[in-house]
Amino acid sequence: MEVIKLQNIKKSFGENEVLSDINLTINKSEVVVIMGPSGSGKSTLLRCVTFLEEPDGGVVKLGEHEVRAGEPLNKQRKKSLRALRQNTGFVFQQFNLFPHKTALENVMEGPIVIKKVRRDIAKRNGVALLEKVGLADRMDHYPVQLSGGQQQRVAIARALSMEPMVMLYDEPTSALDPELVREVLQVMKDLAKEGMTMIVVTHEMTFARDVADRVILMDDGVIVEEGSSDAIFNHPKEERTKRFLRDVGQQKV
Ligand SMILES: Nc1ncnc2c1ncn2[C@@H]1O[C@H](COP(=O)(O)OP(=O)(O)OP(=O)(O)O)[C@@H](O)[C@H]1O
Ligand SMILES: [Mg+2]
Repeated sequence: MEVIKLQNIKKSFGENEVLSDINLTINKSEVVVIMGPSGSGKSTLLRCVTFLEEPDGGVVKLGEHEVRAGEPLNKQRKKSLRALRQNTGFVFQQFNLFPHKTALENVMEGPIVIKKVRRDIAKRNGVALLEKVGLADRMDHYPVQLSGGQQQRVAIARALSMEPMVMLYDEPTSALDPELVREVLQVMKDLAKEGMTMIVVTHEMTFARDVADRVILMDDGVIVEEGSSDAIFNHPKEERTKRFLRDVGQQKV
């Protein structure tokens, strides 16, 4: 079943065409890893999915919601934009937690403020989510009192608290010390196993190999090649993919 469909997504910044004509469909429970060199448009693509960045052209469909680039911001569009954003969980490289709120308060905030969930219910759900990401003993800590890996796991729990249809990750482990990367990847892996639909921009090649149902190589604003992780890592077809894999030390032979 299709969860997200991107059709003909285009984006330029001035003269710089960053996304050329991106078409991508993602099915329920699919884990898609996007990789590619710096500046190839990976972050811009994720941002276009939620219209954090408005594409110059194209359509984003999420479930029954549909947003078309360039339409006037009327009531209908505001409604579909809200639906798009409420149903996607975004996890950034920088964790962006509320600094003056505890881990638990960070996770309760969205459901209470945006979904008008009752406080006691939001709390119960928040506790369960923090337990799930291994932070049962850190609920009342403020972000400054948490390691980067713990903060990122709070950020993941916070995104999950809105019960999104899809989780988007933009280099979630890039800002972390190496010893903290594993605990965050493990949480993501567990979520994947439970059937969460995810799009993950990452340089973690082992994660891509082990967890991705589909791997996409982007370069220069286009999808160069996509396929199963076995196809991409072990039998790449495109010269550009082979070069990228060599550059990141993943080329066999
Ligand atoms: N707000 C912006 N204004 C102008 N140019 C931008 C803006 N955001 C991105 N760009 C440009 O778009 C191109 C793609 O950027 P993007 O951040 O999507 O790349 P990326 O693949 O995520 O790279 P990285 O791996 O370094 O994160 C780059 O040339 C970048 O300079
Ligand atoms: Mg980026």
